[in-house]
Amino acid sequence: MATLADLEPDFATLPDMAADVFTAPLAKPAHVGEDWLEPAQTAYTSEDHKVWDDLFARQMEVLPGRACAAFMAGLDTLDLSRGGIPEFGKLSEELGALTGWSVVPVPMLIPDHVFFWHLANRRFPAGNFIRTRETFDYIEEPDVFHDVFGHVPMLTDPTYADYMQEYGRAGWKAMRYNRLKALGALYWYTVEFGLIEEAGSVRAYGAGILSGPAEARFAVEAESPNRIMLNVDRVMRTDYVISDLQPTYFVIESFADLYRQTVERDFDRLYRSLPAGFTYANSAVIDVDNVLHRGTQEYHLRGGRGSGAVPV
Ligand SMILES: [Fe+2]
Repeated sequence: MATLADLEPDFATLPDMAADVFTAPLAKPAHVGEDWLEPAQTAYTSEDHKVWDDLFARQMEVLPGRACAAFMAGLDTLDLSRGGIPEFGKLSEELGALTGWSVVPVPMLIPDHVFFWHLANRRFPAGNFIRTRETFDYIEEPDVFHDVFGHVPMLTDPTYADYMQEYGRAGWKAMRYNRLKALGALYWYTVEFGLIEEAGSVRAYGAGILSGPAEARFAVEAESPNRIMLNVDRVMRTDYVISDLQPTYFVIESFADLYRQTVERDFDRLYRSLPAGFTYANSAVIDVDNVLHRGTQEYHLRGGRGSGAVPV
């Protein structure tokens, strides 16, 4: 039986957890197996579908000109504007033909090693539930809108699709070195909040930006946040904000550059050199940075979310 201690796992089977590897204590619902997959997608109500449609319409007011071309093309290719919450089976068929990825339903956040295992096998675990009107603007746990609208269109881009698989493969290694926090920062600053240079400007490719109401304008245009060219070593040493807009965004030249920076990196060496905690504050600008925009940090200095500060 493969375990996380194996140096060269084949990723075919879910590994046993080694006793000394930390995993977040999540209570597995009784109806799912070790793979945490739901037997079927939820049967949504017409109100659920209406919530999706309203979220979709709201995002389409801000994303053209702020979302990257690959995302807009992905929305189109997968015909996500057809109305209602997409059916994962159909989505997987379409996505499978393009890049070999599928979308699989999960009940909630799932354990890290299971999440990495699905990614390593080109399966994207998506939250099964959809938010309600009460939590329309902000939810803690990713729902089907965040996961499918925010993440899935990017998986139609072949290079980005390869990056996501490599990320999953890198996950097990991070767990062996107990440096999951560092790899989590890379996910945060790329997959969730990444920007890309495009059309003489920057555009968003991160799902956290693309699926929320306020962050697209802030990330792309506001004076407050720093915009710094991505350096994998630096990003993996950088703290981040979970429940507010980001003080710093990292920008890639292209998806090919992101993929290259990740696969060519000797992660064994990197993990051995990384401290257990973060070195840089989330608003820091350091000597080695290639800075596109040095932010005023006005929004965060005024108190950020809940303070009435305007995200400028
Ligand atoms: Fe996400």
